[in-house]
Amino acid sequence: MSSEVVMVKAGDLLRSYPTLLEKEPGFAKVLVGAQDGYAYVVDHGGEIPCGAICIRKEWDSSFFEREIFDLYAFLDNEAVQLQEPLLLSIDSALQSAWSKGAQCIFARVPLERMGVIRTTERAGFRTYDVICRLQRTNRRVKLGSYHSSDSVREARETDVWSLVSLASSAFGLDHFHQDLEISKDAADAMYGIWIRNLFHEQACRVFIHEIDHKIGGFVTLREAPDELDAKRPKYHIDLIAVDEKHRRSGVGRRLLRKVTDEVGRDSRIDVATQASNLGAIRLYLDAGFSICSYSVTLHLWHRDLSASGARY
Ligand SMILES: CC(C)(COP(=O)(O)OP(=O)(O)OC[C@H]1O[C@@H](n2cnc3c(N)ncnc32)[C@H](O)[C@@H]1OP(=O)(O)O)[C@@H](O)C(=O)NCCC(=O)NCCS
Repeated sequence: MSSEVVMVKAGDLLRSYPTLLEKEPGFAKVLVGAQDGYAYVVDHGGEIPCGAICIRKEWDSSFFEREIFDLYAFLDNEAVQLQEPLLLSIDSALQSAWSKGAQCIFARVPLERMGVIRTTERAGFRTYDVICRLQRTNRRVKLGSYHSSDSVREARETDVWSLVSLASSAFGLDHFHQDLEISKDAADAMYGIWIRNLFHEQACRVFIHEIDHKIGGFVTLREAPDELDAKRPKYHIDLIAVDEKHRRSGVGRRLLRKVTDEVGRDSRIDVATQASNLGAIRLYLDAGFSICSYSVTLHLWHRDLSASGARY
Protein backbone atom coordinates (compact mmCIF):
# COMPACT_ATOMS: atom_id res chain seq x y z
CA MET A 1 0.00 0.00 0.00
CA SER A 2 1.24 3.48 -0.88
CA SER A 3 2.19 5.44 2.24
CA GLU A 4 2.46 8.83 0.72
CA VAL A 5 1.05 11.48 2.99
CA VAL A 6 -0.82 14.30 1.30
CA MET A 7 -1.67 17.62 2.87
CA VAL A 8 -5.28 18.68 2.23
CA LYS A 9 -7.11 21.76 3.44
CA ALA A 10 -9.68 20.59 6.01
CA GLY A 11 -12.50 22.38 4.20
CA ASP A 12 -11.66 20.59 0.92
CA LEU A 13 -11.18 17.14 2.36
CA LEU A 14 -14.84 16.23 2.70
CA ARG A 15 -15.55 17.47 -0.82
CA SER A 16 -12.69 15.36 -2.23
CA TYR A 17 -13.49 12.28 -0.13
CA PRO A 18 -17.23 12.33 0.62
CA THR A 19 -17.18 8.74 1.96
CA LEU A 20 -15.21 10.04 4.95
CA LEU A 21 -18.39 11.52 6.41
CA GLU A 22 -19.98 8.09 6.66
CA LYS A 23 -16.85 6.18 7.66
CA GLU A 24 -15.42 8.60 10.21
CA PRO A 25 -18.19 10.99 11.35
CA GLY A 26 -16.15 12.15 14.37
CA PHE A 27 -13.16 13.12 12.24
CA ALA A 28 -15.46 14.68 9.59
CA LYS A 29 -17.01 16.91 12.29
CA VAL A 30 -13.55 18.10 13.31
CA LEU A 31 -12.77 18.96 9.66
CA VAL A 32 -15.94 21.03 9.36
CA GLY A 33 -14.81 23.12 12.33
CA ALA A 34 -11.25 23.53 11.01
CA GLN A 35 -11.91 24.88 7.52
CA ASP A 36 -8.52 26.57 7.03
CA GLY A 37 -6.39 24.01 8.83
CA TYR A 38 -4.54 21.25 7.00
CA ALA A 39 -5.10 17.55 7.48
CA TYR A 40 -2.44 14.97 6.62
CA VAL A 41 -3.95 11.91 5.00
CA VAL A 42 -2.87 8.87 3.05
CA ASP A 43 -4.45 8.69 -0.41
CA HIS A 44 -5.01 5.11 -1.51
CA GLY A 45 -6.73 4.99 -4.90
CA GLY A 46 -9.21 7.75 -4.13
CA GLU A 47 -9.92 6.47 -0.61
CA ILE A 48 -8.25 7.72 2.53
CA PRO A 49 -7.69 4.93 5.05
CA CYS A 50 -6.00 7.08 7.71
CA GLY A 51 -5.11 10.64 8.52
CA ALA A 52 -4.47 13.22 11.24
CA ILE A 53 -4.93 16.91 11.96
CA CYS A 54 -3.77 19.21 14.78
CA ILE A 55 -5.95 22.14 15.86
CA ARG A 56 -5.05 24.89 18.30
CA LYS A 57 -7.06 24.91 21.53
CA GLU A 58 -7.93 28.57 21.92
CA TRP A 59 -9.22 28.55 25.49
CA ASP A 60 -6.58 26.23 26.96
CA SER A 61 -3.71 28.06 25.23
CA SER A 62 -4.81 31.39 26.59
CA PHE A 63 -5.60 30.09 30.12
CA PHE A 64 -2.41 28.02 30.64
CA GLU A 65 -0.26 30.54 28.72
CA ARG A 66 1.19 27.67 26.69
CA GLU A 67 0.43 26.88 23.08
CA ILE A 68 -1.79 23.78 23.30
CA PHE A 69 -3.15 21.87 20.31
CA ASP A 70 -5.42 18.84 19.90
CA LEU A 71 -4.48 15.91 17.69
CA TYR A 72 -7.32 14.06 15.94
CA ALA A 73 -6.43 10.86 14.09
CA PHE A 74 -8.38 8.10 12.38
CA LEU A 75 -7.55 4.63 11.15
CA ASP A 76 -10.01 2.80 8.95
CA ASN A 77 -11.14 -0.47 10.51
CA GLU A 78 -8.24 -0.41 12.95
CA ALA A 79 -6.18 -2.15 10.25
CA VAL A 80 -2.75 -3.16 11.60
CA GLN A 81 -1.07 -2.71 8.20
CA LEU A 82 -2.20 0.94 8.24
CA GLN A 83 -0.48 1.83 11.50
CA GLU A 84 2.75 2.77 9.71
CA PRO A 85 0.99 5.12 7.24
CA LEU A 86 -1.00 6.56 10.18
CA LEU A 87 2.26 7.24 12.03
CA LEU A 88 3.50 9.19 9.01
CA SER A 89 0.25 11.20 8.94
CA ILE A 90 0.50 11.93 12.69
CA ASP A 91 4.17 12.93 12.33
CA SER A 92 3.26 15.40 9.57
CA ALA A 93 0.38 16.86 11.61
CA LEU A 94 2.72 17.22 14.64
CA GLN A 95 5.44 18.88 12.58
CA SER A 96 2.92 21.41 11.35
CA ALA A 97 1.77 22.12 14.94
CA TRP A 98 5.37 22.47 16.26
CA SER A 99 6.12 24.84 13.38
CA LYS A 100 3.19 27.00 14.57
CA GLY A 101 4.69 27.17 18.07
CA ALA A 102 2.82 24.30 19.76
CA GLN A 103 4.26 23.43 23.18
CA CYS A 104 1.89 20.61 24.07
CA ILE A 105 -0.48 18.46 22.08
CA PHE A 106 -3.43 16.59 23.62
CA ALA A 107 -5.20 13.60 22.09
CA ARG A 108 -8.36 11.87 23.28
CA VAL A 109 -8.98 8.46 21.73
CA PRO A 110 -11.79 5.94 22.38
CA LEU A 111 -10.36 2.95 24.23
CA GLU A 112 -11.50 0.47 21.58
CA ARG A 113 -9.37 2.28 18.97
CA MET A 114 -6.27 0.41 20.06
CA GLY A 115 -4.48 0.94 16.73
CA VAL A 116 -4.79 4.71 17.03
CA ILE A 117 -3.71 4.64 20.70
CA ARG A 118 -0.69 2.45 19.92
CA THR A 119 0.34 4.65 17.00
CA THR A 120 -0.15 7.83 19.02
CA GLU A 121 2.10 6.34 21.72
CA ARG A 122 4.68 5.44 19.07
CA ALA A 123 4.68 9.13 18.12
CA GLY A 124 5.79 9.88 21.71
CA PHE A 125 2.47 10.57 23.53
CA ARG A 126 1.85 9.37 27.10
CA THR A 127 -1.46 8.59 28.80
CA TYR A 128 -2.60 10.97 31.58
CA ASP A 129 -6.12 9.75 32.27
CA VAL A 130 -8.84 7.36 31.19
CA ILE A 131 -12.29 8.91 30.89
CA CYS A 132 -15.39 6.88 31.61
CA ARG A 133 -18.68 8.07 30.06
CA LEU A 134 -21.93 7.17 31.73
CA GLN A 135 -25.51 7.68 30.72
CA ARG A 136 -28.66 7.58 32.77
CA THR A 137 -30.97 4.98 31.39
CA ASN A 138 -34.60 4.62 32.40
CA ARG A 139 -33.63 1.83 34.73
CA ARG A 140 -35.56 2.15 37.98
CA VAL A 141 -33.22 3.08 40.79
CA LYS A 142 -33.39 1.79 44.34
CA LEU A 143 -35.39 4.70 45.77
CA GLY A 144 -34.86 3.28 49.23
CA SER A 145 -31.17 4.17 49.01
CA TYR A 146 -32.03 7.67 47.85
CA HIS A 147 -32.13 10.83 49.91
CA SER A 148 -34.70 13.54 49.21
CA SER A 149 -33.44 16.56 47.26
CA ASP A 150 -35.34 19.10 49.43
CA SER A 151 -32.15 20.62 50.79
CA VAL A 152 -30.89 21.44 47.30
CA ARG A 153 -31.60 24.78 45.63
CA GLU A 154 -30.64 26.60 42.48
CA ALA A 155 -27.45 28.71 42.82
CA ARG A 156 -27.70 32.52 42.86
CA GLU A 157 -25.28 35.28 41.84
CA THR A 158 -24.22 35.67 45.50
CA ASP A 159 -23.07 32.01 45.53
CA VAL A 160 -20.59 32.37 42.68
CA TRP A 161 -17.43 33.02 44.71
CA SER A 162 -18.17 30.16 47.11
CA LEU A 163 -18.72 27.91 44.09
CA VAL A 164 -15.39 29.05 42.61
CA SER A 165 -13.64 28.38 45.91
CA LEU A 166 -15.12 24.87 46.27
CA ALA A 167 -14.44 23.94 42.63
CA SER A 168 -10.84 25.16 42.92
CA SER A 169 -10.05 22.65 45.63
CA ALA A 170 -12.19 19.61 44.80
CA PHE A 171 -10.62 17.94 41.76
CA GLY A 172 -7.34 16.11 41.24
CA LEU A 173 -7.65 12.99 39.10
CA ASP A 174 -8.00 14.69 35.71
CA HIS A 175 -5.27 14.86 33.07
CA PHE A 176 -4.43 18.49 33.94
CA HIS A 177 -3.68 17.62 37.57
CA GLN A 178 -1.91 14.39 36.61
CA ASP A 179 0.54 16.11 34.25
CA LEU A 180 3.31 17.57 36.41
CA GLU A 181 4.18 19.99 33.64
CA ILE A 182 0.97 21.85 34.55
CA SER A 183 1.05 23.46 37.98
CA LYS A 184 -1.52 22.36 40.55
CA ASP A 185 -2.51 26.00 41.08
CA ALA A 186 -3.29 26.43 37.38
CA ALA A 187 -5.24 23.14 37.22
CA ASP A 188 -7.21 24.11 40.37
CA ALA A 189 -7.92 27.59 39.03
CA MET A 190 -9.21 26.11 35.78
CA TYR A 191 -12.04 24.40 37.68
CA GLY A 192 -12.88 27.69 39.40
CA ILE A 193 -13.20 29.43 36.06
CA TRP A 194 -15.10 26.49 34.61
CA ILE A 195 -17.84 26.60 37.28
CA ARG A 196 -18.05 30.39 36.99
CA ASN A 197 -18.49 30.12 33.20
CA LEU A 198 -21.08 27.36 33.58
CA PHE A 199 -23.01 29.51 36.08
CA HIS A 200 -23.22 32.29 33.49
CA GLU A 201 -24.04 29.98 30.59
CA GLN A 202 -27.67 30.30 29.61
CA ALA A 203 -28.21 26.63 28.83
CA CYS A 204 -26.73 25.56 32.16
CA ARG A 205 -28.19 25.43 35.68
CA VAL A 206 -26.20 25.02 38.87
CA PHE A 207 -27.69 23.45 42.01
CA ILE A 208 -26.18 23.65 45.46
CA HIS A 209 -26.58 21.81 48.73
CA GLU A 210 -26.29 24.19 51.67
CA ILE A 211 -24.99 23.04 55.03
CA ASP A 212 -24.94 25.58 57.90
CA HIS A 213 -25.45 28.40 55.37
CA LYS A 214 -22.36 27.32 53.44
CA ILE A 215 -22.14 25.47 50.14
CA GLY A 216 -21.56 21.80 50.90
CA GLY A 217 -21.65 20.69 47.29
CA PHE A 218 -22.84 21.59 43.80
CA VAL A 219 -23.84 19.98 40.53
CA THR A 220 -24.24 21.50 37.07
CA LEU A 221 -26.87 20.53 34.50
CA ARG A 222 -26.51 21.68 30.92
CA GLU A 223 -28.91 21.16 28.02
CA ALA A 224 -27.11 19.29 25.27
CA PRO A 225 -29.31 18.71 22.19
CA ASP A 226 -29.56 15.07 21.18
CA GLU A 227 -28.00 14.76 17.72
CA LEU A 228 -29.86 11.52 17.01
CA ASP A 229 -33.27 12.36 18.42
CA ALA A 230 -34.16 16.07 18.47
CA LYS A 231 -37.48 15.40 20.24
CA ARG A 232 -35.87 13.71 23.21
CA PRO A 233 -34.32 16.15 25.68
CA LYS A 234 -30.74 15.48 26.64
CA TYR A 235 -28.63 16.91 29.43
CA HIS A 236 -25.01 16.81 30.48
CA ILE A 237 -23.49 17.03 33.95
CA ASP A 238 -20.19 18.87 33.55
CA LEU A 239 -19.20 19.05 37.20
CA ILE A 240 -20.26 17.69 40.57
CA ALA A 241 -18.28 18.27 43.74
CA VAL A 242 -18.78 18.01 47.48
CA ASP A 243 -16.68 19.81 50.07
CA GLU A 244 -14.14 17.32 51.43
CA LYS A 245 -15.40 17.60 55.00
CA HIS A 246 -18.96 16.66 53.96
CA ARG A 247 -18.14 13.76 51.68
CA ARG A 248 -19.69 10.35 52.17
CA SER A 249 -22.74 11.73 53.97
CA GLY A 250 -25.21 11.62 51.09
CA VAL A 251 -24.69 15.13 49.65
CA GLY A 252 -23.65 13.82 46.20
CA ARG A 253 -26.70 11.56 46.16
CA ARG A 254 -29.04 14.44 47.00
CA LEU A 255 -27.52 16.59 44.25
CA LEU A 256 -27.96 13.83 41.68
CA ARG A 257 -31.47 13.25 42.91
CA LYS A 258 -32.20 16.93 42.25
CA VAL A 259 -31.02 16.84 38.63
CA THR A 260 -32.85 13.61 37.88
CA ASP A 261 -36.04 15.08 39.42
CA GLU A 262 -35.60 18.24 37.32
CA VAL A 263 -35.24 16.58 33.92
CA GLY A 264 -37.89 13.87 34.23
CA ARG A 265 -37.74 10.17 33.59
CA ASP A 266 -37.49 10.18 29.78
CA SER A 267 -34.63 12.63 29.41
CA ARG A 268 -31.16 11.36 28.84
CA ILE A 269 -28.37 12.61 31.08
CA ASP A 270 -24.76 11.90 30.40
CA VAL A 271 -21.66 12.52 32.42
CA ALA A 272 -17.95 11.76 32.20
CA THR A 273 -15.41 11.14 34.93
CA GLN A 274 -12.01 9.54 35.34
CA ALA A 275 -12.08 5.73 35.37
CA SER A 276 -9.92 6.00 38.52
CA ASN A 277 -12.66 8.00 40.28
CA LEU A 278 -14.24 5.05 42.04
CA GLY A 279 -16.34 7.24 44.35
CA ALA A 280 -17.95 9.16 41.48
CA ILE A 281 -18.52 6.03 39.38
CA ARG A 282 -20.21 4.24 42.27
CA LEU A 283 -22.33 7.32 42.93
CA TYR A 284 -23.53 7.41 39.29
CA LEU A 285 -24.13 3.65 39.03
CA ASP A 286 -26.15 3.83 42.22
CA ALA A 287 -28.26 6.64 40.73
CA GLY A 288 -29.24 4.61 37.65
CA PHE A 289 -26.42 5.54 35.25
CA SER A 290 -24.65 2.91 33.13
CA ILE A 291 -21.14 2.99 31.74
CA CYS A 292 -21.24 3.41 27.96
CA SER A 293 -17.65 4.06 26.83
CA TYR A 294 -14.07 4.80 27.79
CA SER A 295 -11.46 7.02 26.18
CA VAL A 296 -7.82 7.72 26.83
CA THR A 297 -6.28 11.20 27.18
CA LEU A 298 -2.69 11.50 25.99
CA HIS A 299 -0.24 14.43 26.04
CA LEU A 300 2.93 15.13 24.13
CA TRP A 301 5.12 18.03 25.23
CA HIS A 302 7.63 19.46 22.82
CA ARG A 303 10.46 18.76 25.28
CA ASP A 304 9.37 15.07 25.49
CA LEU A 305 10.57 14.44 21.97
CA SER A 306 14.30 14.11 22.58
CA ALA A 307 13.87 12.23 25.90
CA SER A 308 11.20 9.73 24.80
CA GLY A 309 13.14 8.12 21.97
CA ALA A 310 10.54 9.29 19.46
CA ARG A 311 11.88 10.08 16.03
CA TYR A 312 12.71 13.77 16.43
C1 LIG B 1 -17.72 12.08 43.90
C2 LIG B 1 -18.34 12.96 45.00
C3 LIG B 1 -19.15 14.07 44.32
C4 LIG B 1 -19.28 12.09 45.85
O1 LIG B 1 -19.98 12.92 46.75
P1 LIG B 1 -20.41 12.41 48.22
O2 LIG B 1 -21.32 13.42 48.79
O3 LIG B 1 -19.20 12.06 49.00
O4 LIG B 1 -21.23 11.09 47.85
P2 LIG B 1 -22.36 10.40 48.76
O5 LIG B 1 -22.02 10.52 50.20
O6 LIG B 1 -23.69 10.90 48.34
O7 LIG B 1 -22.17 8.89 48.33
C5 LIG B 1 -23.11 8.17 47.56
C6 LIG B 1 -22.52 6.86 47.12
O8 LIG B 1 -21.43 7.11 46.20
C7 LIG B 1 -20.38 6.15 46.44
N1 LIG B 1 -19.18 6.84 46.95
C8 LIG B 1 -19.05 8.17 47.18
N2 LIG B 1 -17.78 8.43 47.58
C9 LIG B 1 -17.11 7.26 47.56
C10 LIG B 1 -15.77 6.89 47.85
N3 LIG B 1 -14.85 7.78 48.24
N4 LIG B 1 -15.42 5.60 47.70
C11 LIG B 1 -16.32 4.68 47.31
N5 LIG B 1 -17.61 4.96 47.05
C12 LIG B 1 -18.01 6.24 47.16
C13 LIG B 1 -20.89 5.17 47.47
O9 LIG B 1 -21.59 4.17 46.77
C14 LIG B 1 -21.86 6.06 48.24
O10 LIG B 1 -22.84 5.32 48.90
P3 LIG B 1 -22.53 4.75 50.39
O11 LIG B 1 -21.90 5.86 51.17
O12 LIG B 1 -23.90 4.38 50.87
O13 LIG B 1 -21.61 3.59 50.19
C15 LIG B 1 -17.24 13.55 45.94
O14 LIG B 1 -16.41 12.49 46.37
C16 LIG B 1 -16.39 14.62 45.31
O15 LIG B 1 -16.71 15.80 45.38
N6 LIG B 1 -15.24 14.24 44.70
C17 LIG B 1 -14.33 15.22 44.10
C18 LIG B 1 -14.92 15.82 42.83
C19 LIG B 1 -15.18 14.74 41.81
O16 LIG B 1 -14.38 13.83 41.64
N7 LIG B 1 -16.31 14.87 41.07
C20 LIG B 1 -16.72 13.88 40.09
C21 LIG B 1 -16.19 14.14 38.73
S1 LIG B 1 -16.98 15.52 37.90
